[in-house]
Amino acid sequence: MLCAMIEQYRPEHYREVAAFARKLDNFFYVKLIIRAHTTQRMPGACFVWREDGRVAAFAAAALLNEADAWLWGMRVDPAFQNRGVASRFTLAQLRFVRDSGRRWAGLNTRERRGKAPTFRVMEKLGFRLEETCGTDIFWRRPKSVARPRLARHPDAYRVARREGAKTAFISRNGWFYTRLLPARREWFNASGFVLDGVPLRLTRHIQQERGRPHRVVAVGLFCPPADFRSFVPRLLALAPRRGHLVVNYPVAWRREFRRAALESVPRMRHDRGCWLSAWRVYGKPVRGPRAGR
Ligand SMILES: CC(C)(COP(=O)(O)OP(=O)(O)OC[C@H]1O[C@@H](n2cnc3c(N)ncnc32)[C@H](O)[C@@H]1OP(=O)(O)O)[C@@H](O)C(=O)NCCC(=O)NCCS
Repeated sequence: MLCAMIEQYRPEHYREVAAFARKLDNFFYVKLIIRAHTTQRMPGACFVWREDGRVAAFAAAALLNEADAWLWGMRVDPAFQNRGVASRFTLAQLRFVRDSGRRWAGLNTRERRGKAPTFRVMEKLGFRLEETCGTDIFWRRPKSVARPRLARHPDAYRVARREGAKTAFISRNGWFYTRLLPARREWFNASGFVLDGVPLRLTRHIQQERGRPHRVVAVGLFCPPADFRSFVPRLLALAPRRGHLVVNYPVAWRREFRRAALESVPRMRHDRGCWLSAWRVYGKPVRGPRAGR
């Protein structure tokens, strides 16, 4: 008898996965995820889910560090949607996460009505909404603003925790969040800076886009600036040439933050100099098979 099951992704699955994933949004992200876990050897794995022998879904699990995992790229063939596939597949991925020794699995999804099926899957599986974040990308800079110098912050982790942040944003070939555990303090503080009195986290890396190097500056904000109008243009001046700046911040500041950003660069709007989005971050503790693990 044929049944449903999870299987580790292999290159020969690509054709079947692409056949349905192409019909859904952001197919580029599925390809990016496959690349990350195969040629780039990012810890974790890609999986497919079979229903009666057919590949019905694709998803991946990244192992971010020794404690946290990240579920990404879930795509269910429209012919199989609303039959519990994503729910069962996610449970199977959680078993992989547990067996890897990680204790928490997170994922993010756009804060918009069209994502109601994902919100429902999260609710059914007992995931908790950890936070909702604005995540905006900028590739134009305010012309008359000099690139600011950043000072080191001695303990940005403490400030972030005090401000109620639960997760830290990571932008590296994808967008991830890891829990703000005390074990993360040193890691977090290695990227802790101050800009005009505002503590923040900033990382830089270079990724290949269409075969060319592309610079990424990623900023996590957890303290609201006293004056968005003067702070945000200074922040946007950090956007690199031949690359982009991505800023992650509590969604409650969305209006003020974006108004200040749009005012600082003439004619900038969504998809023209910037790309504006909001995301829900969900998480679930993953318990080991033995009590106390
Ligand atoms: C989101 C997605 C993965 C869900 O897969 P799925 O296999 O259909 O999910 P399930 O069947 O396990 O659960 C879907 C639930 O959402 C519910 N649902 C469907 N449409 C809904 C809507 N418009 N509003 C509220 N609930 C809705 C279903 O009824 C079901 O809940 P139920 O079991 O209580 O009836 C799938 O729709 C998909 O691939 N979407 C496109 C890609 C995507 O958005 N991926 C998620 C990226 S984070």
